[in-house]
Amino acid sequence: MKILLTGGTGYIGSHTAVELIERGYEIEILDNLFNSKITVLDDIEKITGVKPKFHKVDLLDVLAMEKVFEEGKFDLVIHFAGLKAVGESVEKPLKYYENNVGGTINLLKCMKKYGVNKIVFSSSATVYGDQGVAELTEDMQTGVGITNPYGETKHVIEEILKDVAEADQKFEATILRYFNPVGAHKSGLIGEDPNDIPNNLMPIIMKVSTGEIKELSVYGDDYDTPDGTGMRDYIHVVDLARGHVAAIEKMKPGVSIYNLGTGKATSVLEMVAAFEKASGGKKLTYKIVGRRAGDLPKIFANPTKAKKELEWETELTIEDAMDDTINYLKHYTEKK
Ligand code: NAD
Ligand code: UFG
Repeated sequence: MKILLTGGTGYIGSHTAVELIERGYEIEILDNLFNSKITVLDDIEKITGVKPKFHKVDLLDVLAMEKVFEEGKFDLVIHFAGLKAVGESVEKPLKYYENNVGGTINLLKCMKKYGVNKIVFSSSATVYGDQGVAELTEDMQTGVGITNPYGETKHVIEEILKDVAEADQKFEATILRYFNPVGAHKSGLIGEDPNDIPNNLMPIIMKVSTGEIKELSVYGDDYDTPDGTGMRDYIHVVDLARGHVAAIEKMKPGVSIYNLGTGKATSVLEMVAAFEKASGGKKLTYKIVGRRAGDLPKIFANPTKAKKELEWETELTIEDAMDDTINYLKHYTEKK
């Protein structure tokens, strides 16, 4: 099977590339390098012995994308490419709708033109909005109470995929709703390396530990959780990557939706403590500040459907994620 990874030099895409190559899949990567670096291809080669064919192409450049499809003869697309900064999406909504929704429409049209009818899409737990409960299952209504344009783009794309499947019986789409990806490859060669100032917890913790950011602001300690800080389902990025391999092996006509998470929630302060423990007791500077607008107290995946239908479940722990992050940080600081 020949697979195109859009956004394949990014954080989750690069880890998935490694897992696919290690299982013998032939892959090519398309990315505009907006939020990733070309050197990731060398790192993938160091890990797997294979340097994937790369196309520096933007999803908004239809002609360039068509050329990739014409030559590629792909069987399936895994669609990671997208902008993901929640805060920026509030300030620049059109940029997000154009890139994420517009880019996906271009991709789907291109797939149709070149006879590719299988797609795996990177969605997010954000599509659930505020359900009033912490444990989220795939059958819950989505799209209500999403608090930012980034989240809206994920919901809209899910709806587009359902409509396309309705119109074309041969179309196969698997929507993967990621919870909070953390960690890095055990080699230390690939990990999360945002080109911009991050707004997610783990990359901020990383940058506080390297001194690039002065301190971590913990957004609220007055939630109804054991230590008062927000709780999320942090999934090791390698487990997440393996979830994509499981998904492509179980593709079927129509739209299938799966949560990819661990089923457990961890608080911000527990994450800080785990990071400190993995770094040999070195303290991480943080201060408690007010709640961040739009944040929920606690959410986590019910991963039962993925376990049953994809025969996939997480194997790695928060401790593994912290050890791998610290190992990656060593390589990352050496490279700088
Ligand atoms: P990332 O930014 O590391 O990777 C995304 C890649 O897409 C980048 O390499 C970027 O350059 C590329 N890209 C963006 N717009 C493009 C365009 N128009 N044309 C070509 N390439 C383009 O992000 P990631 O964390 O690896 O996320 C991958 C996907 O998973 C995204 O769709 C994201 O929204 C989704 N997701 C991520 C998280 C998370 O917390 N990391 C959670 C839920 C869902
Ligand atoms: N947090 C802090 N300080 C920070 C950053 C985060 O205390 O500087 C806290 C948040 O309040 C939250 C937890 O850490 O309790 C996790 O926050 P993230 O921003 O890392 O993650 P979110 O769960 O808020 O959102 C992420 C992605 C979304 C995605 C969602 C669900 O940013 O795109 O996970 O998958 F939709």
